Amino acid sequence: MNILDKELRKFCVAPMMGYTTQHARNLYRILSKKAYLFSEMITCKTLIHSKKTDYFLENKNQNPVALQVGGCDIEDLIKCCKLAAKHKFNEINLNLGCPSKAVQNGKFGACLMKNKDLVLDCLKSMKDSADIEVSFKCRLGVDSFDSYDFFSDFIGTTTSSGVNIVYVHARKAILKGLNPKKNRSVPPLNYKYVSKIKKDFPQINFILNGGIKNLEEAKTLSNSFDGVMIGRLIQTDPFCLSNVDNMFFDHQKNTINLNNIVSEYFLYIKKQLKNESIYKLLSPLMGVFFAKPFGKKIKSEIHNAIKDNKIDQLEKFILNSI
Ligand SMILES: Cc1cc2nc3c(=O)[nH]c(=O)nc-3n(C[C@H](O)[C@H](O)[C@H](O)COP(=O)(O)O)c2cc1C
Repeated sequence: MNILDKELRKFCVAPMMGYTTQHARNLYRILSKKAYLFSEMITCKTLIHSKKTDYFLENKNQNPVALQVGGCDIEDLIKCCKLAAKHKFNEINLNLGCPSKAVQNGKFGACLMKNKDLVLDCLKSMKDSADIEVSFKCRLGVDSFDSYDFFSDFIGTTTSSGVNIVYVHARKAILKGLNPKKNRSVPPLNYKYVSKIKKDFPQINFILNGGIKNLEEAKTLSNSFDGVMIGRLIQTDPFCLSNVDNMFFDHQKNTINLNNIVSEYFLYIKKQLKNESIYKLLSPLMGVFFAKPFGKKIKSEIHNAIKDNKIDQLEKFILNSI
């Protein structure tokens, strides 16, 4: 990775299933030209066999963007790398952090952290398969494998593949008895392990993820790591992305007008309506209402407008709420 590429990942939007869809990425790209985007996790099997493969891989004006996959079958991973390269993704990222039951049943995600040799084989094959950057996103550990030595050993082995971009959700995963939502808040955050791993592996790019509450905190943390990655903040406040280019990439103070952004995204919605459900198209904006005191009332008004297909009214609701 060259120096210019290093700047690329200073501010990343985390992969979020059900949220960072291609529609959301479209909105995010209107808000920020520079934020590094991620797809939601797509399993290798889905990507290879689904009738919707083209939909998952559509990448119009979304770069810089990474495709995140879940899987552990080397042949499948190689196919996915080729697909990602063909569709001009900047990077393919292997999910080593998801603790869901379904993912554990498929023997991928966070449980792979217990099998560093398999991960090494996967990453080596991925690197050799296509002209595309390969990375992974992991936790600090899993279950009782939560010492710094375990984490350091895992990073040492896996990065011997030549992969040098690692996104760390800075808490361990608990595989039994904790659902994915709780796995994002119950295990405590531990940024110290990520600071230490950066010192021990200075040649590897570590992007810090987990619990970053606002852009100011992100900016401060970005000075100590190779980048920061933000998830739930973007889910509830996608519009904060309009400050990212200015804050993280020294672009001129933005003169972005949120009304214009909403109008631009609604133009996109109107074009997509014949192929996609209005719910999916609006979903990246809905988080805006989560934190509002009258969120419930507004949401029910929105649902009524959706039912009646009143797109212009929906646009007004959103504009009045930001
Ligand atoms: C709704 C939702 C879906 C998620 N889906 C994924 C996913 O597909 N792949 C992944 O690696 N992490 C996923 N995550 C985890 C986030 O990428 C991130 O690691 C986590 O939310 C911690 O970051 P945050 O505190 O900034 O939200 C998801 C998180 C949320 C809230």
